[in-house]
Amino acid sequence: MNHPALDLIRQRVSANQFDPTHTLDDATIRELIFYAGEAPSCYNLQNWRFIAVRSAARKRALMALSYDQEKVVDAAVTVIVCGVLEPERGIRAAMQPFHDDGHIDREVLDQWVEETTAAYRDKPGKQRDEAIRSASLAAMNLMFAAQAMGLASGPMGGFDAAGVSADFGLAATEIPVMLVSVGRAAPGNWPRKRRLAVDQVLSIV
Ligand SMILES: Cc1cc2nc3c(=O)[nH]c(=O)nc-3n(C[C@H](O)[C@H](O)[C@H](O)COP(=O)(O)O)c2cc1C
Repeated sequence: MNHPALDLIRQRVSANQFDPTHTLDDATIRELIFYAGEAPSCYNLQNWRFIAVRSAARKRALMALSYDQEKVVDAAVTVIVCGVLEPERGIRAAMQPFHDDGHIDREVLDQWVEETTAAYRDKPGKQRDEAIRSASLAAMNLMFAAQAMGLASGPMGGFDAAGVSADFGLAATEIPVMLVSVGRAAPGNWPRKRRLAVDQVLSIV
């Protein structure tokens, strides 16, 4: 099947080399984060937060905390994609607009909040799983949005999570899940790597 969105999926690469002279303005960063936040999340928790690291000084600090991965300083911006624990605390605010738009009544909203609270309160393991799921989906959206906007992206899990939390002032309820560098690709990137064949990863039952 042919569709521009499918082309994006087939063509995206994880970039390692970025043009250090290229910069991104606030409006573009905001647009990228808008699309990151369009990702789905369980109960529409939206249990994520994003820190766009753009200044030279903060990029240097983040590079030191990510095992000196140079793309952190070379790329125009590196986004710290965070997942948020205790997500039930934010669910009413997250779902209130759906109520206000007339899609659900007050009773359904209250029930939604109650179910979400029962699902997550005092369940740290489940909170962490959900934080990582949500942030990962947001990170993928961010990478596809970047590509659609003609930008390269590079995801990273290689960083000192405790160090990033401390240096970038994350709350105790925030986990740095992934770093995503975004900018203009420089020459020297590897092509997209081959993937396993569908038969190797799929069971249809
Ligand atoms: C969760 C995650 C963590 C990653 N961590 C790093 C990293 O720390 N440094 C790095 O250079 N690449 C990292 N990568 C990039 C992968 O190596 C890359 O996505 C993979 O080799 C496939 O490459 P391709 O998408 O260009 O085909 C990471 C990717 C993911 C999804």
